Amino acid sequence: MAGASPHSRGVALIGSGSAQAAQVISNNQLGLRVDTSDEWIQSRTGISTRRVSSPDQRLSDLASDAGRSALAMAGWSAESLDLVLLATSTPDDLFGTAPAVQAALGATNAVAFDLTAACSGFLFSLVTAAQYLRTGSMRRALVIGADQLSRFVDWDDRRSCVLFGDGAGAVAIEAADDDGLLGFLLRSDGSRGGVLNLPALDSDEVLAADARHRQGGYRPIEMNGQEVYKFAVREVPAVLQDLLERCAVGPESIDWLLLHQANQRILDAVADRFAIPRPKVLSNLAHYGNTSAATIPLVLDEAVRDGRVRSGHLLASSGFGAGLSWGAALFRWQGPA
Ligand code: ACO
Repeated sequence: MAGASPHSRGVALIGSGSAQAAQVISNNQLGLRVDTSDEWIQSRTGISTRRVSSPDQRLSDLASDAGRSALAMAGWSAESLDLVLLATSTPDDLFGTAPAVQAALGATNAVAFDLTAACSGFLFSLVTAAQYLRTGSMRRALVIGADQLSRFVDWDDRRSCVLFGDGAGAVAIEAADDDGLLGFLLRSDGSRGGVLNLPALDSDEVLAADARHRQGGYRPIEMNGQEVYKFAVREVPAVLQDLLERCAVGPESIDWLLLHQANQRILDAVADRFAIPRPKVLSNLAHYGNTSAATIPLVLDEAVRDGRVRSGHLLASSGFGAGLSWGAALFRWQGPA
């Protein structure tokens, strides 16, 4: 683990990457399985297709591909990394999948670990990684958001199965004198957590003559869609407003609104709240659905690569989801122009 200058106090976001799951599943294909329609899904969510991993595509494959692509954009060798932080709720291994990603990348000098905060995971991880850089204890970090919710969706539950997909995105960040992370706010409220869960099985098994235990395993995703929707349209504008005020930045100064991609109606509601014109709202929901921790770096990477997001642009980002958890970050993209 290489040390950085003890005087480094800033963080520069300079590379992005993403990786896609192998299969494209259309609304019409889902309509053959559950009682739904392309019209219903598109009008309520903005989603047309989502990507689903093939059985042989592991989370670490997606995460490594996204990470490799971010490293290439940053122009870094894998050996120069100090940290690989993997935001995921769907690891290949509950003991942690980040070390497998570290090995696949050849990031031999990096410490690697997972961070779980559902759809807020990427934002929470970005802020966490930034702290190591700000203290001067690390110099380069790769922050990856990757999820395969397809493994835990009840594909016979039309209320939730139409929303989710798989994917990965990554951002390369570096300690810098010129601080690109202008501010952040992170929030949790476990008392409201029952509206969105991927819960452990309630098993009760005999262990020995006088002892029982609970065998590991998970039930499919359980969601109260209306409550999650209300939570998102209340808390996301509030936390963004709070952050903009603390940073003394007006909504008119924002180049891009970069929100967790859960539902186009949520994106539109937040944009309207700040009078941010629709062309400034990054969205790829139509093609990916909700890829949980991957949505923010995935849509960012698309916009960087097609030239919409350029070096120096200011982005207001917010992640939100299960926990409940939510947060916001204001940052300047400093990648290749
Ligand atoms: N196709 C057709 N009909 C459906 C479908 C479907 N896929 N799903 C639900 N319906 C029906 C319902 O059964 C209901 O019928 P009923 O009135 O006969 O009972 C009707 O449509 C209306 O259902 P609502 O739940 O009221 O629909 P709503 O307009 O709220 O849209 C939706 C549902 C899209 C899920 C919305 O509530 C939403 O997007 N919520 C946010 C969900 C979300 O973003 N979750 C992820 C959060 S991030 C994370 O951490 C993973």
